[in-house]
Amino acid sequence: MDKIAGQYEVKRAALLPLLRFVQQKHGWITPEIEQNMAEYLEMPLVQVHEVVCFYHLLNQHKKGHCHLSVCQTTACSLRGADEMIQYISDKLKIRPGETTADGRFSLSVVECLGACDQAPVMQCNEEYVGLLDKKKIDKIVDR
Ligand code: FES
Repeated sequence: MDKIAGQYEVKRAALLPLLRFVQQKHGWITPEIEQNMAEYLEMPLVQVHEVVCFYHLLNQHKKGHCHLSVCQTTACSLRGADEMIQYISDKLKIRPGETTADGRFSLSVVECLGACDQAPVMQCNEEYVGLLDKKKIDKIVDR
């Protein structure tokens, strides 16, 4: 953390990279992590919490090993996102916001992922999958 924070002239500017770093190690941002981060960066806890709440890439709850986030904003919605979400729900037997009992998969519905030309788009952890169809979903789940 010191190495990351040291790259910034103002320590608090390292908040997002530090939250991502911690999430990669721990899987999600717990209230205790928020508290420790606020103390480490010498900033109010509420400001750390606001950032964690704002970015959907930061998890406030434990997620499955594979976190599937399907965009449901206009372009994706018009190109079949709802059908893809339903397909994943049926296949994994979870609804958006849930995690499979074995902890392998979580499903989220999110706002625009910034790849509208590839609609419908899904993110699987850090990987983007565009022009999403049932075949691609099957392949990702099998992998
Ligand atoms: S609307 Fe889905 S990626 Fe932009």
